[in-house]
Formats: sequence, structure tokens, C-alpha cells
Amino acid sequence: MKNNHKIIAANWKMNGSEELIKEFSKFAPEKHNDIIICPPFTLLDSAKTLLPSFIKIGAQNCSEKNNGPFTGEISASMLQEKSVTHVLIGHSERRTLFNETDDVIYKKAEAAICSKLTPIICIGETLLEKKANKTLQVLDYQIDGSVAKINPHEKFIVAYEPIWAIGTGLIPNENEIKETHLHIKTKLSQNFNTDIPILYGGSANAENCSQITSIKNVGGLLVGGASLNQHDFLAICNC
Ligand code: 13P
Repeated sequence: MKNNHKIIAANWKMNGSEELIKEFSKFAPEKHNDIIICPPFTLLDSAKTLLPSFIKIGAQNCSEKNNGPFTGEISASMLQEKSVTHVLIGHSERRTLFNETDDVIYKKAEAAICSKLTPIICIGETLLEKKANKTLQVLDYQIDGSVAKINPHEKFIVAYEPIWAIGTGLIPNENEIKETHLHIKTKLSQNFNTDIPILYGGSANAENCSQITSIKNVGGLLVGGASLNQHDFLAICNC
């Protein structure tokens, strides 16, 4: 069964330029999915000014702190001043390259919520964990350490991104996506009454987007590489 309304989020990572923002200025998908573009911090102003107003602007990270002596950090309230509405929290690249723990991820999500941003909290297993049949266990652990501590009345999004699928061209098969999304949904329903959107991320592209978004409990996509090409991203937003 296919839900009509999806969230399609673009994670540009440390890519993009003023030129790329300009290329997206006439972006006009036919479908009314919720579209969020998360460019690097330095492009947030241009994104707000040049992108069509139906596109929501997200950041890729925020500090767990409000302000103070934290050189190089950017707080959620600073992002809110830039008209940012969403922020990616706990992307696997932040977890592995910047040592972000579930506790830090929880604190960042709280900081985002305090500044009225919607956190998109990323979870997912490594290839080793998948091969050891530990996927669901890892997801439970990550959810318990971060997402489950959020106040049940708050609004947030979860993105399931198997780490082995990010940037590799590999994706889980349909049954695997079905199983993980159902598992995450069931687990979240223990703490949260409302339906939390669960996005899939990892090598999503113009060819596989329709198939992935038609899987039950997939609330949309978090797209990396393919979101940097406006033709590909347009096709994804129309899926
Ligand atoms: P790719 O779509 O390039 O695999 O990246 C996924 C991702 O990390 C999005 O956050």
C-alpha cells in the first residue's frame, strides 16, 4: 500500500555552492511531498533567499549547548534565527568521525526541540552488525539511548540509514526495509502516541525511490549523493 504524502530530505553533506542553490531556485516538483534541503551552514542564507518557499531548510548538525565558549559550534537557536526548521542529528558520519554518542545525540535533539526545530534523528547498523544479525538490537540500543528519552509530546523524525548502504550503491532488500521500519515503528509506539515519520536513507536514488517509498512504514527518504543533482532530486521528489 502506498501512502501519498512523503518527506523527502536532502543531505548535501560538505558539498554544494551558491551555484548549486541557484540551480535549485526553479525547483518545481509535481507531487506535494514535504521537501527539506540541508545544505552546509554557509549556504543557509542563500538557501532561504533563493529556494522556492515550499522547500524547508534544514541544517546538518547543531550544538547540544545554547551558547558559550564552544569554538566552532553553532547552536540550535542560531539556526532558528536563520529560518531553519529541521536539523539532522546523529548522522552516522557524526557518530563515527566525530564520536557522537547516543547521549550527545539525545542532548542535541533536545536543544533542537527547545529552539522549535524538528530534529531528524539518524540511526542504523554497520555491515558487521548486520552480518552478525544484530540490526534490530543495534536499532533498539540507539533508540533507547537517544530517541526514547524525548518528551512524548514533541515532534521529531527518525531516519533509518544502514551505514553499509550510505554512498555504496547497496540497499537492503524490500523485506529488510519492511522489517526494520516495522520494528522501529513498533518500538517508538511504546513511548509515543503520535505517528513518528520514519525515513529511509542510504543509496536512495531516482531509480529506486518509488520502490522504497511504497514499502509499508517508510515515511520518506533521506537522500545524500542523488540530492546534489537537481534532475535526480526532482525525480525523487516526484516519487
Ligand atoms: P547517499 O544517499 O549518498 O547514500 O547518502 C545517504 C546519507 O547519508 C543521507 O544522510
